[in-house]
Amino acid sequence: MAVLVGDAIRLSEADALALELGLPLVQDPSALSPSCERVLQFTPERLQLQPLGPQASGPVYVDFVDGAMGHRRRYGGGRSQLVAKAVGIKKGFCPRVVDATAGLGRDSFILAQLGCHVQMVERSPVVAALLRDGMRRGQCDDEVATIIERLSLTVADARQWLLTLAESERPDVIYVDPMHPERIKAAEVKKEMRLFRELVGLDSDDAELLQSALAAARKRVVVKRPRKSETIAGPKPNLIMEGKSTRFDIYLL
Ligand SMILES: C[S@@+](CC[C@H](N)C(=O)[O-])C[C@H]1O[C@@H](n2cnc3c(N)ncnc32)[C@H](O)[C@@H]1O
Repeated sequence: MAVLVGDAIRLSEADALALELGLPLVQDPSALSPSCERVLQFTPERLQLQPLGPQASGPVYVDFVDGAMGHRRRYGGGRSQLVAKAVGIKKGFCPRVVDATAGLGRDSFILAQLGCHVQMVERSPVVAALLRDGMRRGQCDDEVATIIERLSLTVADARQWLLTLAESERPDVIYVDPMHPERIKAAEVKKEMRLFRELVGLDSDDAELLQSALAAARKRVVVKRPRKSETIAGPKPNLIMEGKSTRFDIYLL
């Protein structure tokens, strides 16, 4: 992988990211190594993960303003959504949430839109860079900016990071949505998601993450699963909420 920047305006930003990720910085696409399968590309508008080659899919990037997230923001159903019930949002109460598997930030953004303060934790520095860029662009839209104010991002492995929290920092809710084999099958359908899966792999250490989450949360741990899949190995959930394709396994503390 390399950082590709065609636009001189973003050169210093690209340089800093290449240094942070230990990747080569390339300005001319013809200088890319033939074995390079994907690039983190700075376009004039955004940072995107772009696969290379004749069969390449479209890019992966974070967009909180338009596209699917924009649609969900306008028509998502507010506090009647299952995820709102799963994390325990009630009239006059919005939990403080740690999203231990932030990914492209969609679930965190939905929770922040519902009023929660969400600390996102993501262990892939590449995914975190995409997320940071999406937050930066979102800040240019007045409505989205007020939601992004409730989001913060830490690049770390949540299995260890959660155990370093001081008593006063422990969140009400820890939200966990690991990459799952069934999720991968579904992801194959959408080429862009296949690219994301290739990048982060399978989160086969989810049982360890659940243990850390159970030790760190004050009120509950909420695990998002495909509806028909098995629970994460470990204690049984106290409550299960099923949607059309998704299920929430809830561990009360
Ligand atoms: C299925 S995706 C999450 C998608 C996310 N809920 C969303 O709405 O965009 C799983 C993400 O969690 C991250 N992840 C998995 N285990 C983690 C851990 N122990 N600590 C931090 N991040 C983790 C992976 O790198 C991946 O980006």
